[in-house]
This record gives sequence, C-alpha cells and structure tokens, in this order.
Amino acid sequence: MVRPPALDAAAYSAGDVFMQEKASLFSTAWLPLCAVDQLEAAGSFVSATIGGWPLFAIRGTDAVLRGFRNLCRHQNMLVVEKPEGECEALRCRYHGWTYALDGSFVTAPPLVAPASTDPESTHLIETTVATWSDLVFLRLDNGPAGSPMPPDADETAGIAAGRRALDPGTDRPDPARWEKATIDIGCNWKVAVEELLADDEVPSKPPSYHFPLLFKRSEERGTVLEQIMPRSFLRTRLIAYRSRTAAASESLDALQALKQRLEEAQSARVGGNPARETAAVERFHSAWGEALTRMSPPQARRTG
Ligand code: FES
Repeated sequence: MVRPPALDAAAYSAGDVFMQEKASLFSTAWLPLCAVDQLEAAGSFVSATIGGWPLFAIRGTDAVLRGFRNLCRHQNMLVVEKPEGECEALRCRYHGWTYALDGSFVTAPPLVAPASTDPESTHLIETTVATWSDLVFLRLDNGPAGSPMPPDADETAGIAAGRRALDPGTDRPDPARWEKATIDIGCNWKVAVEELLADDEVPSKPPSYHFPLLFKRSEERGTVLEQIMPRSFLRTRLIAYRSRTAAASESLDALQALKQRLEEAQSARVGGNPARETAAVERFHSAWGEALTRMSPPQARRTG
C-alpha cells in the first residue's frame, strides 16, 4: 500500500507530490479537455497537458473522435504543439514521423524510419475518450474504448445529473448557448477545488463537484461548468463555460476575482494555513488520499 502524502504545505507546493498525483490519480481519472464543439470538423484538434500528461483529441476523417497521448513514438517529443487547430495529418516537426488522423503511423524520412512498422511501437498511443454534455473527457487507463461511463457510480450519477440539467432531453446541447472563458492561476489545483467546494456549502444546492476536475453550478442567470486543468504543481488553468444568458464580461470579471482569491489561498496553504474544513472539502481530501494510494495501471506502453 502506498501512503498518500499529508495535506501539509508541501502537498500544495512540491513537485514530487504532483508527480505522485500524475502517476496515480490523473492516470486513472476522467480528465476534461475541451468543449465538443471545438472538435466538430474532420482534422480539428485540441491539445493540453493535464495533470502532467500531454494529451490531445482529434476528429478523424471518419467523423470518429479520438484521444491520444501527445508523444511521438520516435523520441517522445510533442506531436501536436498548437493548443487547437485543424490539420490533414499529424507530422512531428522534430524528424518528420507522420501519422494519420486515427493515430496510425504513415511514414518517416528514410534516415529516421522505424525498423519495423509494428503498430504497438509506431502508432500513437490512444486514450479512452468520452463526451458528457458538451465536454470531451480523456482517460489514460484501459477502460473500454469510447465508454460513456465514468469510473465509479457516484461520478456516473453526478455527471448524468449534470447532463440532464444542462440540456434536458438530448445528449447534444446547443453550443451557441455557451461562452467560454479561460484564466491561468498561480495556485495548486487542490486549492482551486477546495475554494470552489467551500462556495458550494449551501444546503439547498445540489452537489456540483465531479471528482477530480469538474464543477457544475447553477447561478441566478444560468449554468456554469468549471473545468480545472492542473498544469504543474503551482499552475492551474480554469476554464468556465457559462450560459449566454450571462454577459461574457461578467464571466471575465468573476474569473479575475476568483484568480486573486485563489492565489491568496495558495499563499495561505504554503504558509501552513489549511483549507476550511467543510464536509465537501473533507470528502475531497478523502477521495484524494484514496486515489493517491492506488497504484497506476500497467505502464508498458507509456513513457513520460
Ligand atoms: S521525435 Fe518525432 S519524429 Fe523524431
């Protein structure tokens, strides 16, 4: 049994704790990546490093949405370097290995060509991909390909409830209803989760947190999805998808205020002041500790 680290100052500021989270929690969790409407056209892609894992999703010419580890099979460099865009093939800029949109190896210059074109060693490494509501999630472990089911019943119930609330009666909400706003925050991802959870401690509100990286909340003027993206042990991106009934400027103002609050909370944690212990925060800490004691699945096809 691996012991989780204590939730002391180091848990919010140490790179080795983040690496432990990468190997256990983030290698087995559903990781929200982007809105599905960013990936409608054939060849459209979105890439990000989430919880230490470089990933991307792309729509194939066969209209299938796929997720991949963003690592070239030649020497593990990034294949996709832009955060989003469209392409007809995936060509690694370092030595020219080229992949089709379905991740299969196509060709490489003779000097760096692989000795064998065995798919196990030359195709991009696929992740599990799923969409809930209008968000795309990737998962690194070996769940069934394309499975819509999150890894445990609580998450299933939570996400399903979120989907119904977003768009009752259909699996494809109208993306035109949503504004997207992004902000980078100088804090550990757990600080963002704790502070947002503390906001949710209103008994009349239904639970809105989907462990580990997604919030859904109902506000007076609409619904907000908040996607937490751990970028490093001290950097977190927050992407808010907000009903268009609320003005975009209102969304940005709210995010700026949140950024300031979270960075102050980060300083407090590193200074030894723990998170406010609400019931929701305690549940999060418990789930975090359990996830960190789980060993990651077999790494035979993984590097980096
Ligand atoms: S690392 Fe991609 S072609 Fe060499």
